[in-house]
This record gives sequence, structure tokens and C-alpha cells, in this order.
Amino acid sequence: MHERLGVPLMDREHAAIERLFADVESLPDEALPDLFDKAARELRGHCAREEAMMAKARAPRLLLHMDLHARLLAEVEQMRKDIETAPPATVRELVGTVLPLMISNHVATEDLATARFLAHQRKSAAADDPPKPSAGAGASRRGRG
Ligand SMILES: [Fe+2]
Ligand SMILES: [Fe+2]
Repeated sequence: MHERLGVPLMDREHAAIERLFADVESLPDEALPDLFDKAARELRGHCAREEAMMAKARAPRLLLHMDLHARLLAEVEQMRKDIETAPPATVRELVGTVLPLMISNHVATEDLATARFLAHQRKSAAADDPPKPSAGAGASRRGRG
């Protein structure tokens, strides 16, 4: 079960990924590769959206977080290859236990750190709310000539 982090995009998408695994125990062996593919697809899209959100928020550790996403997705790709030749019990272990655990670990560490930063940023913005300079400056000074 993923901890709620208080960041709507994260919580919504983590929950959606988690829901994919809800019925894994009752699924027949032959349905497991499809579930893996679906979860991998969701995860890839989620990582990209999370990175875009972090970039927009100028979150620290963005590069590290992106690197960890890339490693996570590379491991998922390797697992997908392993699934092709693994015995059914191993496939079930990979899809039903290992993959959800890898995702949960990421959520509980790096995503949590990001969520804490974003919460802190929100609080600071609400407390300070400094006046912003007008956006009119910076127009081109070069005329035609
Ligand atoms: Fe993440
Ligand atoms: Fe995430």
C-alpha cells in the first residue's frame, strides 16, 4: 500500500498503479505478462509526468530522481525479458511481488522526499507571498535597421 503523499498527481497515479495489482492473486498464469505490460506502461507514463511536474516546480534532486526513474524502468525492461523464459512460479513472484515492491520502495523514498519539498514550498509561498515585479520588462530594445 502506497503512502499518500499529499501531491494530487502522485497520489492519483500511484493509486492507479497499485490498483492494477489488486487482483493479481486471482489471475491465471497466462494473464500475468499482460498485467506486467500494463503496469510497466503506466509506470513509464507516470515517471514522465512526475518529472515534468518536478521540473515545473523547480524541485531539487530532479536529476537524481530522473536517474532513479531511468534505472527503475531499465530494471522493469529486464524483468520483462526474464518473464519470457521464467517458470510460472517465478513469473508470479516477479509480477505479484517484486514489481509492486520496487515501485513502493521508490514511492516511499524519492517520491516522499519530493512531496515533502513541494509541501514545504507551498507553505513558504502561502506564508511569504512576496510582491512580484511586473512581467513587462525585457522587451526587445533592437529596432529595425
Ligand atoms: Fe518518482
Ligand atoms: Fe511516483
